[in-house]
Amino acid sequence: MRKLIGGNYGFKRTYRIKNNFFIRNSDNLFPSGRSAFISLVEYLFKKNNLSKIEIPTFLCESIAQSLHRYNFDYSFYSINKKFELKPKLKKDTITLLVNLFGMNDENIKKIVKNNSGQSFIIDMTHSILNKNFSLEKKENTEIFFSLRKFSPVMAGMSSIKNMQSVLNSRYLRLFKDNIELKKKRYKYFKLENKPIDIFFENKMIRQFSNHEKKLKRIFHTKVPKIMPVLLNGINWNEVRRKRKNNFLYLTKKIKKKFKIINLGNLRKSVTPMFLVLDLGKHRDNIKKFLFSKRILTPVHWPKSKFVNYRNFKVEKKMTETLLSIPIDQRYNYTHMELISKNLLKY
Ligand SMILES: Cc1ncc(COP(=O)(O)O)c(C=O)c1O
Repeated sequence: MRKLIGGNYGFKRTYRIKNNFFIRNSDNLFPSGRSAFISLVEYLFKKNNLSKIEIPTFLCESIAQSLHRYNFDYSFYSINKKFELKPKLKKDTITLLVNLFGMNDENIKKIVKNNSGQSFIIDMTHSILNKNFSLEKKENTEIFFSLRKFSPVMAGMSSIKNMQSVLNSRYLRLFKDNIELKKKRYKYFKLENKPIDIFFENKMIRQFSNHEKKLKRIFHTKVPKIMPVLLNGINWNEVRRKRKNNFLYLTKKIKKKFKIINLGNLRKSVTPMFLVLDLGKHRDNIKKFLFSKRILTPVHWPKSKFVNYRNFKVEKKMTETLLSIPIDQRYNYTHMELISKNLLKY
């Protein structure tokens, strides 16, 4: 049967406006998180007459890759075992702070407060649905995030406006193709009890991966007018509620046997992105086992080719032991039950 947990989002066309958050800020939308980030770096380099940036080693490779593409001077800093950021805060350098799995609120607040002379960018990709989220910034901080972790919409956002006046036609084609593909995916998986069409599934995987490759190259373009409409069509409160309930349910079921690293996401103010497990040396085998049960689990994050892990032992271990379990709005208790049953069986 088709039932599948995880993987790319599908898209159900809903244009009902549920809130005006994104309409208000639609000038601040970008094609992706990384393109919002690069525009922000360019803006700050110019404004503050800086030319270097430091970023955490434990991070999505797309960030270092984008800096590399633009030949920007960047360096890595470490985090500790509790996922707390330990930037070097050198004088002529911008510091990227990342709210990892929504757990670094206090850590980030403290760093920003104690270093008012430093210029910061805060990556809020993992914490946009937390209660205290705001695009409002302090004098020495700018903000950006990807919207793709919590929604099917291919978009990013930043505290600065997207100043581009032209819409890149290659990107527009990609944007449209991506929505069509997600609609196809939604339709196919909605019929959970129909037989699997493996040829169709593999073709979709190839197409999604092709879209990702194309998106890597998209920077500096206006976004389509439909983007804020799509984002406002999402019932974000429902997204919050479902994620929280799934996270709670699964936590209760598995916490005795497994080490959950983001238990702090149980706090009322936090909306979890995934449930993240530390599986030690069993990580890859458990991932394979779950895959065989049609439960797809991403790794946040695999090793980056830009990092020399000899200097970053904590991060190296994280790339080898952590596994993210989907708890998002597409799923309910029956899906969580299936995940826990399989995890406990392993
Ligand atoms: C924390 C974080 N920031 C930024 C990004 C980049 O976002 P996008 O893929 O939309 O460019 C990612 C991507 O995975 C991420 O995990």
